[in-house]
Order: sequence, then structure tokens, then C-alpha cells
Amino acid sequence: MISMPYPPILRLHQVTCQFSRHTQPAVCAISLSLQPGDLLALLGPSGCGKTTLLRLIAGFEPLQDGTVEIAEQRVSGEGAWVPPEQRGVGMVFQDYALFPHLTVRQNIEFGLSDR
Ligand SMILES: Nc1ncnc2c1ncn2[C@@H]1O[C@H](COP(=O)(O)OP(=O)(O)OP(=O)(O)O)[C@@H](O)[C@H]1O
Ligand SMILES: [Mg+2]
Repeated sequence: MISMPYPPILRLHQVTCQFSRHTQPAVCAISLSLQPGDLLALLGPSGCGKTTLLRLIAGFEPLQDGTVEIAEQRVSGEGAWVPPEQRGVGMVFQDYALFPHLTVRQNIEFGLSDR
């Protein structure tokens, strides 16, 4: 396979997240690299750390070890911390909240009303 000339859009190096000293890390030394246009699917049993890894990338969770780079900028790790709103990452939450008394259109408009 010919290596792509593009720099990675996302690079994780040895990313580790441990919620408590008394438990196993939720995410343990994960490394991966994505080119622009790549699609990545995380598969695994409940509790294996899929959501935690996405939250680490988006900046909703601090990591204890490793680094996250987005478009070659370090956003987490080794002293770096870019807040979620400055990462340019979109995330659809697993447990999202919709207003049951509003239509789909009204639910979407509710979040956009500030803009
Ligand atoms: N905020 C938190 N505080 C403490 N432990 C947490 C927290 N969030 C997740 N965990 C633990 O981290 C581990 C990974 O959870 P995570 O939600 O990332 O799993 P998942 O792969 O997304 O599971 P599912 O398929 O059920 O969505 C689990 O043991 C979970 O209990
Ligand atoms: Mg999950």
C-alpha cells in the first residue's frame, strides 16, 4: 500500500484515561492515526471504553497519559489543553436529550435560537 501524502487529521498516541486509582483504566494506551476522509468505527462490548475515547478526543474528559493531536495541533497531553469549543470536533452524544413535546424541527430550532 502506498502511504498517503496528507498529514493526519487525528492522531492519538498512547492515550490513557483512568477514572479512579482503584479501577482499571477505561482507555488504556490507545494509539491510532486517521487521514482526512477516513472513517473509524469503534466496536466492543459495553463498558470497554468507546464513549470515553470519543470524549477524550472532543475534550470532555482529561487524559492521564498520552497525547491527542487534531490537524497536527496537540490538544491534550504533555501540558497541552485545548478546550472542547476550540477543537472543531462535532459529537453526537450517546444519551442525548430531546424535548418530547416538541417536533423534530422545533427540537433543532431550540438549539439554534441563540444564533
Ligand atoms: N465519568 C465516569 N466516572 C467513572 N467511571 C466511568 C465514567 N465514565 C465511564 N466510566 C467507566 O469507564 C468504562 C468505560 O465506559 P464507556 O462509557 O466508555 O464504555 P462504552 O464502551 O461506551 O460502553 P457502552 O457500549 O455501554 O456505551 C466503564 O467501566 C464505565 O463504567
Ligand atoms: Mg458508550
